[in-house]
Amino acid sequence: MSKPYYITTAIDYTNAPPHIGHAYEKVLADVMTRFQRLNGREVYFLTGVDQHGQKVQKSAEKVGLSPQDFVNGVTQHFTALWEKLNVRFDGWAATTDPKHKRVVQAMLQKLHDCGQLYKASHTGFYSVRQEQFLTDKERGPDGQFGEEWGEVVELAEENWYFKLSEHVEWLKGYIRTHPDFIFPSHRANDVLNALEGKALDLCISRPIERLSWGIPLPFDEKFVNFVWFDALTNYISFAGYLAHECGNDDLPDFSKLWPADAEIIGKDILVPAHAVYWPIMLHALGFSDDQIPKLIVHGWWNVKGAKMSKSTGNVIDPSALADTFTPDGLRYYLMRDIATGYDADFSEERILNAYNKELGGGLGNLLNRTLKMANNYRSGVIKRGDFDDAMCESLRQATAEAEAAYPEKMESWSIHQGIEEAWKIVTAANGFIELTQPFKLAKDEAQSARLDAVLHHLAEAILHVAILLNPIMPVMSEKICDQLGWSLPSGFKLAELKWGILPDGHQLGEGVPLFPRVEIA
Ligand code: MSP
Repeated sequence: MSKPYYITTAIDYTNAPPHIGHAYEKVLADVMTRFQRLNGREVYFLTGVDQHGQKVQKSAEKVGLSPQDFVNGVTQHFTALWEKLNVRFDGWAATTDPKHKRVVQAMLQKLHDCGQLYKASHTGFYSVRQEQFLTDKERGPDGQFGEEWGEVVELAEENWYFKLSEHVEWLKGYIRTHPDFIFPSHRANDVLNALEGKALDLCISRPIERLSWGIPLPFDEKFVNFVWFDALTNYISFAGYLAHECGNDDLPDFSKLWPADAEIIGKDILVPAHAVYWPIMLHALGFSDDQIPKLIVHGWWNVKGAKMSKSTGNVIDPSALADTFTPDGLRYYLMRDIATGYDADFSEERILNAYNKELGGGLGNLLNRTLKMANNYRSGVIKRGDFDDAMCESLRQATAEAEAAYPEKMESWSIHQGIEEAWKIVTAANGFIELTQPFKLAKDEAQSARLDAVLHHLAEAILHVAILLNPIMPVMSEKICDQLGWSLPSGFKLAELKWGILPDGHQLGEGVPLFPRVEIA
């Protein structure tokens, strides 16, 4: 038995409600989860929320709530969205969960005990307004710190440091010898470039008087843990790392689950957090090279070429889009209009087109026409018969070719190309109607066997499309199967997908439009 496919995503900051970028990442993970299951693999899918840190503490202060009440409220927006979009995870990683806190503290203690942490004093320029130390990077062309930093004072502060620099040579070697560590592989160069120059250690604490909303260091309670150290640990804490000694016995068996087969993150958090801090943390904790997780780095959704931001007012709300285009319509758009690893531009025109023309006009119309003809000419009963000709054969072949290509595209994160494969069947089936003209065959008794073959081929081809699109549009897929009078058996595997699923004499259902046209003024 191979180990379960362990898939996780970045955990979302709970200082603001989710936008379309958050939705994209979680849908991508959910699609991969459903695909792996369809392909016969056991899967564990973990996602969650990043609830500590300065951003949250400040946002809570602004609205006069305690940080915990504040994050509880924002977290609900995320969980409600995942429910709505049918993002179905097996584990929920919330960093204020006491189970997680215990593991973070045990991990910090372990690093402390093996001499990986030390206390030191740092003198530097500190922005009172932004509550952070500044470096030369923050200086303007005139050598001064700009107005955005407010009052800047020279300050000496004691903190705890992690001996990151000690492991940088190991990391460089690891990256060079493990081309599959980061997908897409060209991103590995960004990491190697960032590792050029003098390596510094990492400050992993914040004095409690400056930041109280975090996990206290177990060996020095005057400090809380730096939020990234806390957040990155979620990938192991909720997978059962140190579960026994932390009393987390209800979590998965770590030895069976780890390492993660896919940690899905956006390109902005690759360097330094996921590609430098994270593998080095694991290495320092004694994880071997084959225990380092794989990173899947996706691009960004922008709006008219610009970054989404509250101040520009161009933040796209995924929940409203799901109301307009159905949750599956939004999932389809988010998967078909981007190539994993690259950026995409959100466009209302494109989502409208994807929904009305591709889903409604292409797939929905094909299903509707087929069911209407089968119900009109044959009371919805499919006969297989033994009629065959080149047109039928060509539709079977197009289906077989698409099915052969689909798994490899999906497995390698080329979801948009996996969708294209399914679409080749839709196009072939629509072309098949034009060529065979079943409405004419129905008028000629002598063509009866041919009409039966045509209707059977159409229904069978649509069923195959529904199965291939199941990971992307689980609800619509089920509805299509339902209209075809068939239900996907639980545990159905792609390997069972062969021509001839619908038996002779099969009764099809009624056609009900699945993608009612959306009009936008
Ligand atoms: N909390 C950190 C991650 C900690 S992981 C141990 C964080 N949170 S975030 O809310 O800012 O971002 C969550 C995820 O959403 C990240 O992977 C980020 O790259 C992704 N996205 C944020 N904006 C995005 C787009 N506009 N488009 C696509 N994904 C984007 O970073």
